[in-house]
Amino acid sequence: MPSHQIHFTKPNTPPMELPEGTPLAEGMDSSASPIPFGCKDGRCGTCLVWVEALDGALSPPNDHERDVLDIYAPGESAARLACQLTLTCSIRIDSDRWTVPNQAPLVHDPES
Ligand code: FES
Repeated sequence: MPSHQIHFTKPNTPPMELPEGTPLAEGMDSSASPIPFGCKDGRCGTCLVWVEALDGALSPPNDHERDVLDIYAPGESAARLACQLTLTCSIRIDSDRWTVPNQAPLVHDPES
């Protein structure tokens, strides 16, 4: 199984390499993750990142992820929820573009 690299724009954050098909929420599931995760099921928006595909194509967001992205990053085509992203190619992640202003993240309820 091929592996892909994950590069980060955050200073002093070394690249990672994970097998293709790895969900980022699993591959980065440690206290040292450069991406903060919250709910890990695409509701809280904590893991909002901007992703650039380096040598292939990303899988598109599903309808649920698109709904949440429309709340947190409307019109931002490179925005993704890292917890919903599965590695399909090497990528560069910018996790510092979005900051939560001293408030708890909104929780998206797809049932409402
Ligand atoms: S961790 Fe909550 S949306 Fe990704």
